[in-house]
Amino acid sequence: MITPKMQDALCAHVEQEMYSAYLYLAMGAYCEAKAYKGFGRWLRVQHGEELEHARKVLDYVVARGGQTSLGAIPAPSREFGTITQVFEAVLNHERRVTERIHALYATAVAEKDTAAQVFLQWFIGEQVEEENAATEILDKLRMVGDRPGSALYLDKEYGKRGKTG
Ligand code: FEO
Repeated sequence: MITPKMQDALCAHVEQEMYSAYLYLAMGAYCEAKAYKGFGRWLRVQHGEELEHARKVLDYVVARGGQTSLGAIPAPSREFGTITQVFEAVLNHERRVTERIHALYATAVAEKDTAAQVFLQWFIGEQVEEENAATEILDKLRMVGDRPGSALYLDKEYGKRGKTG
């Protein structure tokens, strides 16, 4: 049985993952409106992954016999600046998510909840990938600077995400 503290911390994290999904949906639409269709697609795929993360945490709480209580999801911004600033915001957001996952893990340790520790290890690994992916895009965007041709090449490349064939 899950402790109330662990249950509440995980339910709060469902909201965080839903906010990530909402944020990336907004960012994706923003990029598409600026003719960066590829980065828009990349962010929409990310939106779908964040929904999966939220469901994964919720399913875990249910599987442990916990009660789910979900709160409101804040509205994301409407303005994200340049394409480089969009991905600076993605990386900063993922770093905050990583901190939250580590705090959840610390709660699992304090609650002596071994199952939650094992469960959260997947998210700890996932955050390494999430930060790495955002860092790679950001590094490339900073490299090309304000050369539109190069930014559009990157847009095309990253727009292949989630496509087969
Ligand atoms: Fe669900 Fe991007 O962390």
